[in-house]
Formats: sequence, structure tokens, C-alpha cells
Amino acid sequence: MRYTPLSAATYREHRARFRSGMEKGGLALFHSNDIMPTSADGTMPFKQATDIMYLTGIDQEESVLLLFPDTMDPKDREILFVRETNEHIAIWEGHKFSKEEATELSGIANVQWTSAYEATLKRLVPQCESLYLNSNEHLRQGNEVETRTERMNKSVRAQFPLHNVKRSAPILHRIRSVKTAEEVAQMRKAVAITGKAFERVCSFLKPGVMEYAVEAEITHEFLRNGSRGHAYTPIIASGYSACVLHYIDNDKPCKDGDVILMDFGCEYGGYASDLTRCLPVSGKFTKRQREVYNAVLNVKNEATKLLRPGTMLAEYHKEVGKLMESELIGLGLLDKTDVKNQNPDAPLYKKYFMHGTSHFIGLDVHDVGLWNEPIREGMCFTVEPGIYIREESLGIRLENDIVVTKDGQDDLFKDIPVEAEAVEELMNSKKLVA
Ligand code: GLY
Ligand code: MN
Ligand code: MN
Repeated sequence: MRYTPLSAATYREHRARFRSGMEKGGLALFHSNDIMPTSADGTMPFKQATDIMYLTGIDQEESVLLLFPDTMDPKDREILFVRETNEHIAIWEGHKFSKEEATELSGIANVQWTSAYEATLKRLVPQCESLYLNSNEHLRQGNEVETRTERMNKSVRAQFPLHNVKRSAPILHRIRSVKTAEEVAQMRKAVAITGKAFERVCSFLKPGVMEYAVEAEITHEFLRNGSRGHAYTPIIASGYSACVLHYIDNDKPCKDGDVILMDFGCEYGGYASDLTRCLPVSGKFTKRQREVYNAVLNVKNEATKLLRPGTMLAEYHKEVGKLMESELIGLGLLDKTDVKNQNPDAPLYKKYFMHGTSHFIGLDVHDVGLWNEPIREGMCFTVEPGIYIREESLGIRLENDIVVTKDGQDDLFKDIPVEAEAVEELMNSKKLVA
């Protein structure tokens, strides 16, 4: 394994949290992701479904978790199914979990081969009151491909059409939104690697290098530090491209005088980090670039302070909008009177800052979470305001990740330079990459 997983005690704690959200007599099922095909005999790298990862730590295809807390036989209360290996799989694919290893990692005593799954369902489902089935209820999900979970849901519902079905997703969104201590520690590891990659890029960047060469430096630093790579497709956008919010071509030369916006973050042990930094390709910001940079930095710093227990995210986003309005007036991009007379449902700042300021982060970079309840200690968010001025070919976004503490927040990227002078200094002080 490239990473140190969370402890079995933490996976037990995650399952206990899920059970506490279930009603009496419920039986819950959680499936792995499929290995997605490309074409011919090609496949994409396996990416485990984050819910079963959260509940078991089992990062392997064809695994299933069954929870049936109120059943008579204690052995049936938690069952983990893993893919049975054989000599052929061992030769061609390598190591798969033995039952003992799966128990040690997940803390689940009863591990069966996945081939026993259907027979176990036939035996246990008739004894349960309701089936807790999972579904992707992320607010922005838009997937057209049927997942393994959806396929398995159809199958179990066809086999047991008279059973009551309940949704696991609301329970998962609730419990996953507040991170356990080991999850935060894992995110700190991801953040540390991402920080190293940023420092590497500061030494590397100069006029004429290609955006994909910058991406390669980042990927190199991720892989050599035990990450499996990017938590999401990185945005390496110089000049005008920084104003294209989901720019991922990363195929242009970085020109002298331009600013490059880099939005990247590694995964570590399945946990995401999400950083955005902007650098002057020449090593020094122009006066205008620095003004815009500092405006975004002010909003980031003030917004961060608002992320504390009790804050409602909708209110927070409104407050950040006001902060941004005042910075945009200061930059001469908005007129004070126009802002006063604006339609509150279509505020003028959205011309230059058209995305949200924060999202939950965790096993998914845009993690599931409770958007309509007060912020709580242990929730993790990004803070990522930006100003995009297409007519000036200038886009600045600054993004850090934070964990909410008892009476404030801890910035996980606090050791990674963000002040304009500090990043210039970093660019100019190190000439060689180790
Ligand atoms: N790169 C994705 C985000 O910042 O949300
Ligand atoms: Mn980002
Ligand atoms: Mn983000």
C-alpha cells in the first residue's frame, strides 16, 4: 500500500455513526465502484466509491458491506464481502485482500468472499424491516452512467419488491460532513504533499515553459511522496485561460508578464486536498496584478474568519459577496451607485466572481455535507474567492482548505506562502529543483 490507512478503530467509529442514523430493523448495503472500461481491453484506474471507503477502508473492487445491527446472530450484524483471489489473479493482477487482512484493516470480524453475497441476501433480507440503499445525492451530481450501486439496488429491489426502502445518503452526508481526528490527520498529509508541489513549481516556473510542464512537476512531487496522484483534474491556466473556470487543456506557453493560476491538489489515502495559487510568470507581479491579487487575498482572509461554529453557509456566501463587492469597487471594476441600485437577486459582483466561495472537502474533493445546517466543529471546507477580468486577460483565485475548530478554524495550508511578496520571494530564492 502506498499510504497508511486510518485505524480499524476509526472505521468502526464511522460504522457506529451510520448505525446510529438507522431505524430499527434496517439492513444497509454499500457497494464498490466498478472498474470502468475505456475501449478494447483497456480500463481506467480503479477509484473506490467513497462511502464504502469511509465505512471500511477497503480500497478494492467488488467489495460489499452489509450492516444489519438488530439481527439475532451477532455474526450477521456486520459482514464484509471481498473478491476471492486465486493463482491466476495473483499472477496477472497481484495481491488482493485475504479475509484476515480485510478484518485487520476494517475491524469487521465476519469477512466472506463476494461469491457468497447473493446467498447471504436471500437468507437475511427476509428478516429485515427495511433496506437502506445508497445513491449519489450530491447536490451537483450529473452522472449518466449507471453505477455498480445503482445496478445492485435494482437487483435487490427486484428480488424483494415488497420491502420498504430507505435512503442511506442523508445519513452519510450527515456523518461524513464532520471529520474524525484521523480523517483530518490524513487530509493534513495530502495538504503537506500539495504544499511541496507548490514550492517545486515556484522554483520551476519561468517564461516560455508550457503549462503541461508545470503540471508534470506537480504530478512528479505527488507520486514521489506516496500520493496516487491528483484528487481532481488540475487547472494550470496562464493569462486569459485563468478566466476559463474549468480550463484543463493546460497546453499553452506561460508568457512573460502573464499570471498563471494553478488549481491542484493531491489525494492521499483517498483524501483530497485542494489548493489554488497564482504566480507571476516573470517572478514579479505588475502593480495592477498585485492590486487584484491583494483584493482576492483580503476576501480570502476575511471569509476564512467567518467559517466557524454556528455560521450558516447561505449567510456566509452572502457576506463574502459583500466583501467582494467592496474590493471590486476599490479596483474600479464596479461603480458604487450601480451596486447600491443593483437587483439583489443578480448582484453585479457575479460578473467578476461567478462561483461559490467554499465547498466541503474530504474523501471527495467536492465532499458531501450539510449545506442547510449551522457549521460545526470538525467540518472541513475550502475558501476560494476569485476575480476574473477577461478584458485584462487576468484571473486570480486563491484557495486554502480549513478545518473548523471549537471556536474558529485551523487553516491546513497556513504554512504555504500566499502573500504576494512571499510567493515572489519563493520564486526568486530557489533556482534549482532537487
Ligand atoms: N478545483 C476544484 C475546486 O476548486 O473546487
Ligand atoms: Mn481548487
Ligand atoms: Mn475547491
